[in-house]
Amino acid sequence: MNKELQGTLTILFTDVEGSTDLRTRQGDDLAQEILRGHERMLREQFQEHGGREVVFLGDGFMVAFGSARKAVTCAIAIQRAFEEYNRQHPDRQIRVRTGLNTGEVVQESGTLYGAAVNAASRIASKAKGGQILVSQVVKDLAGPVKEFVFVDRGLVSLKGFPARWRLYEVSWQQRLDASPVEGQDTGPAAASPTSEGTRTVGMLEENYVRSGLAPIVGREAERDMIVNELEAVRARALRVVSVEGEAGIGKTRLLEMAAHEALSHGFGVVIVGADEELRGPFFLLRTLLVSSSMERLADEAAARETLEQARDVLWGRQQIPGGLSPSEQMLRVYDMATIALRSLASARPLALLFDDIQWADEDSLKLIRYLVRTSSPDPIFLMLARRPEPGASVTPATTLLADLERMRLVRRLRLERFSRMQTQELLRQLLGGPVSPETAATLHERGEGVPFFMVEFTQAFREARLLQQVEGIWKISMGARSPVPASVQILIERRLAQLSDETRAVLADAAILGRRFRVADLARVEAALEAGPARPGSAALDSLLVSALRLNLLSELPEDAVYDYSFTHDEVRGALRAAQTRQRRRTVHAAIVEILAASKEGTATNLSALAYHSLEAGDHAQGIRYSIEAARAALQAH
Ligand SMILES: Nc1ncnc2c1ncn2[C@@H]1O[C@H](COP(=O)(O)OP(=O)(O)OP(=O)(O)O)[C@@H](O)[C@H]1O
Ligand SMILES: [Mg+2]
Repeated sequence: MNKELQGTLTILFTDVEGSTDLRTRQGDDLAQEILRGHERMLREQFQEHGGREVVFLGDGFMVAFGSARKAVTCAIAIQRAFEEYNRQHPDRQIRVRTGLNTGEVVQESGTLYGAAVNAASRIASKAKGGQILVSQVVKDLAGPVKEFVFVDRGLVSLKGFPARWRLYEVSWQQRLDASPVEGQDTGPAAASPTSEGTRTVGMLEENYVRSGLAPIVGREAERDMIVNELEAVRARALRVVSVEGEAGIGKTRLLEMAAHEALSHGFGVVIVGADEELRGPFFLLRTLLVSSSMERLADEAAARETLEQARDVLWGRQQIPGGLSPSEQMLRVYDMATIALRSLASARPLALLFDDIQWADEDSLKLIRYLVRTSSPDPIFLMLARRPEPGASVTPATTLLADLERMRLVRRLRLERFSRMQTQELLRQLLGGPVSPETAATLHERGEGVPFFMVEFTQAFREARLLQQVEGIWKISMGARSPVPASVQILIERRLAQLSDETRAVLADAAILGRRFRVADLARVEAALEAGPARPGSAALDSLLVSALRLNLLSELPEDAVYDYSFTHDEVRGALRAAQTRQRRRTVHAAIVEILAASKEGTATNLSALAYHSLEAGDHAQGIRYSIEAARAALQAH
């Protein structure tokens, strides 16, 4: 190994996906031959791009580069070379994962050491075959080069590192010759079970689908109906299912179930949720089109170009084709978005799941109607969850559903409260053992058969040591009624009271950011508010939030999700905000405005959020200005 290898270097790790599998599938000799061919191909690329081989680790390499840009270029060249190889050798496919990081390294006894090296190796192990993952520093150092497209893959924990790392995927399939790879059917039937398993994981990231959920209780009829509809979609028909019901009844849970069913049926899945506060024009559609799940599906379907075009029209980045009236312009947005969604669905069936559409903006709902009406032979599954809002009778969401129903284009599911038997099953899962019928009856009564309430009460009874296991069976103590409060609100307030003052304060600020939030955004808000040196960084915030996780006030989102945490329920957010002073609330809103306005992502994306936070910060003039801009951007779409 070369002596000069030290200082700040970019380290590339490569690894063959499923090499053991390769050996069993192809037999040892042939596998050996394939792997040796793979070594040669890699070494050629290293040489061409100025990479120095540090060690060869059996199925992969550690390579050092003096330049981050060259390292990324090399990784892209590697992936393209293997793509070409796989095209020529369909029976000897080989997929390489690559991970890169830059940092200080030390050379010792023939290899490189240092935290930067460890991280690079961990990053590579997070990659899937055919994927390039890089750390933030690599992205920053590689700089804004036209050929590099980095896709944010969210915060990821790497073993051995306390703080989470933001990882980016370098999307290398960007050649835009757009024709699908020859001889490689991209249709759903062609996806092999293994590649399916690895590919699908990342497609839930936009959402707040919690991993490792306990099995769903009841809802058999609903599940059967959803599965039937998914099958109809696979046979090429657009289908729409709505799910409606009161707060906490299990709408989101059913959506999560549908997402998993759709994934296992070979669908590309995207889940997005409307937000109670953020309701600008096209807000939901924007959320959908920028989701990383969408991006990934577009790459897979070689439909990135149409997706980009739809975004350009929606964000008003396109040339004006002279003299379009506002309604014609609106139609153009619908058309482009529809074309993009249909082209995704042409590669493999598509499931689009929309949560909380009672808060969706009218324009996005109109797009859904347009899609349904124009795309009946496309394999698209739509699922819409709606919580009826008290007081409001005619809302855009109810109108949409009523229209679709009139046209016989939607199957409507209404979720009922749990029966006693179902409650007993839910409790068995929650407590991890059988529950006596009387106990189930008591909790059923307290929680009125609404799963969310019953989960809450169970937890409260347990904390108050009123639930105990006697000879393996969970039983409620006699006279258990008094110490547990009658309402879920009070339960939540009591749980909040168990947090430290600092955590509660930080959590209240987070509640202003939204039901789901990123730790980095929260850190920025805190930094903007606390001038002193004691402000918590992301890592410190993460550790503060752990106690809220433990008390089930927050849930952690999957590693590659856009957001890091979600409040477990609106009630939690509500209680936190109610306890905050008006002044503090305004200050936090104002800080969010500053952060959004300064964000590089382009303010157009954030206009609705800016409008909302400005108004809440008490700056009406600015709020109105942003609202008008948001409306103009959406309406004119030019
Ligand atoms: N069928 C079920 N089986 C097991 N747990 C369930 C079921 N339905 C709901 N739950 C649990 O009850 C809680 C509330 O469910 P969920 O969040 O899906 O309700 P929701 O209808 O979406 O409420 P909201 O209107 O507030 O959004 C969650 O903890 C969820 O895991
Ligand atoms: Mg919900």
